[in-house]
Amino acid sequence: MKIGSRLAMYKALADEFDIQSALYPGCHIDITPSQVIPQVTYVDNFRGTIKFFSKIEEVERFIELSKTYAEKTSIRFLAADYNDLDIEGLFDLIISQYAGFVGQSTKKYLKQGGILLCNDSHGDATLAHCDDDYELIAVINNNHVIDSSQLDKYFRFKRQRDVDLDKVKETMKGPKYKYNAENYIYRLVASGK
Ligand SMILES: C[S@@+](CC[C@H](N)C(=O)[O-])C[C@H]1O[C@@H](n2cnc3c(N)ncnc32)[C@H](O)[C@@H]1O
Repeated sequence: MKIGSRLAMYKALADEFDIQSALYPGCHIDITPSQVIPQVTYVDNFRGTIKFFSKIEEVERFIELSKTYAEKTSIRFLAADYNDLDIEGLFDLIISQYAGFVGQSTKKYLKQGGILLCNDSHGDATLAHCDDDYELIAVINNNHVIDSSQLDKYFRFKRQRDVDLDKVKETMKGPKYKYNAENYIYRLVASGK
């Protein structure tokens, strides 16, 4: 999904779940969440991204002009490996887009009842699906509609077999299921620690 077209997805999510704060590990330069979510902490360790966020006042100025909420924007960028974070506080939402196993590595920063948005490009949605701490509550496709119907059909193969989690972790690739959604929405139902 192109960065531009994600705005509608983040907006649908923020509205539906009243999201005020988000953590976005492996963000690269996707700052669209800040247009609809007042407090966003971005994390990335790529040189180009660190350079992009070094002009954070410009990013904030752009967001102030294009945001859809009344609150002041709070943007924080951490130039760090998301596996080694040490941050205060818990977030309403964690965003995992094409950046590895974010939902597993940063689960401890999600509020209980908080939301994980992830796709299965690198297998993060598959890992969340196999993790009892998370419950699949909806999917979201290219039409940006949050759909909580027929969730049982996802993560099943055409010919029934178990998912090979070791292979997913090794290849960092989501398996090809019979039905695949663009993005999956999980709720943290256990403590995440
Ligand atoms: C393919 S890009 C996706 C960027 C963005 N999420 C998007 O969908 O447009 C993956 C990003 O994750 C970052 N990344 C991958 N592993 C990381 C890690 N362990 N810690 C911090 N950033 C990481 C990379 O530096 C890169 O910027």
